[in-house]
Amino acid sequence: MSIFRTKSIELLKQEASTHSLHKSLTAVDIILLGIGVIIGTGIFVLTGVAAAKYAGPGLMLSFALAGITVAFVCLAYSELAAMIPIAGSAYTYTYTALGEFVAWLVGWNLILEYSVGASAVAGGWSAYTVGILKSAGIDLPLAITAVPADGGLINLPAVLITLFLTLLLIKGVKESAHANRVLVAIKLIAIFLFLFLAGPKVDVANWTPFLPYGWAGVSAGAAIIFFAYLGVDSVATAAEETRNPSKDMPIGIIGSLGICTVLYISVSAVMTGVVPYSQLNTAEPVSFILRQLGYNFGSALVGTGAIAGLTTVLMVMMYAQTRAFFAISRDGLIPAAICKVHPKYGTPHIITLIVGCGVALISGFTPIHLVAEMCSAGTLFAFIAAMIGVMVLRRTKPDAARPFRCPALSFVATAAILFCLYIMYNLQAGTWLRFVVWSMIGTIIYFLYGRSHSLLNTSVERGSNKAV
Ligand code: ALA
Repeated sequence: MSIFRTKSIELLKQEASTHSLHKSLTAVDIILLGIGVIIGTGIFVLTGVAAAKYAGPGLMLSFALAGITVAFVCLAYSELAAMIPIAGSAYTYTYTALGEFVAWLVGWNLILEYSVGASAVAGGWSAYTVGILKSAGIDLPLAITAVPADGGLINLPAVLITLFLTLLLIKGVKESAHANRVLVAIKLIAIFLFLFLAGPKVDVANWTPFLPYGWAGVSAGAAIIFFAYLGVDSVATAAEETRNPSKDMPIGIIGSLGICTVLYISVSAVMTGVVPYSQLNTAEPVSFILRQLGYNFGSALVGTGAIAGLTTVLMVMMYAQTRAFFAISRDGLIPAAICKVHPKYGTPHIITLIVGCGVALISGFTPIHLVAEMCSAGTLFAFIAAMIGVMVLRRTKPDAARPFRCPALSFVATAAILFCLYIMYNLQAGTWLRFVVWSMIGTIIYFLYGRSHSLLNTSVERGSNKAV
């Protein structure tokens, strides 16, 4: 019953062999896929708080720092994704490389990435909706549009959109490449419209002081807006569907990251150039700035684009959470009963409902920046585990087929770990505390339930896995 027992790649492949994917994606598809999943709350919502409270105009540097970190992570991550092309992402990779307990902790922390992340997105969705209604002369009372920490009772729009999307997910809504393209276009139009309208109003005097909170502020800002790059790991998982992974994956990943980073830096430059950074403490900074400039219609238009983008990000994150739970339940670490598939809709309705209610509760009552930081903490942990995993597998499974080999892996993965640790180090003390408590709860659950219910208990006896 070793907690370091691993799951073999062969077994994973057997489990996944029911569907082999068509290799049709090109580098351009990967870039579009990346932009589709990356751009969302980070740029439309968190830039405001991050500039006002942490980085000031230096937020541009925060985006660059987080972007470089994610670029390193993704290059190495793609090797794992191509080698073990199975749902469950970092959880599954870690199970193979570092064993069950670390994998469980990674899966446990993926809840922070997906569910807690979804809550932040729902909060942003609510802010933009309330803003647009305001532009149209409908002022909703603070009591039902703000969380208690911000002077309200409940963030009702966030709760309602979450529950609505939960029902859609239960009924089984499929996303398509076509819908993704339309969505990428809407998001990009919203961003370019913002840059076009607000760009000419930049007053460079607002960029002084550039680093009002010093380099520490830039790093703290990077810890918050790291969220803006989440989802990028799902780009790595497209490796098995790519025509020529060794060429298309690096171009696709670096391409989409590069484009997003340039857009992020441009938006933060314009935002902090148009109004003094201290005024940006709002959850809908893009619309807020356009309203300040008198572009009420432009503000509503950009806000609508943001809402469209945020709706899908929210849905994809909740979807990803249910599928991660699915992978974990398949291994017996959580009860399979809660991942049961609905006989009529063919979706895991119970777990979707649990995830939806959880997200609704968090988004209804928790401030958005707290939520975003927790999310970054969990994701950074999962990334670090995956980076160690990819290096371990090069040693323990040197001959396994690797459709994509990360160039200079030792350097790339080590740099990724160091950058991730640096950003983690810059999380607020409260976030660390919550993260440690969260991980301890996860550890207790593993020892009370997962360890004894793991399917490896039986398959080890059958000899299909290696117990280390
Ligand atoms: N990167 C995604 C966003 O910013 C999660 O919304």
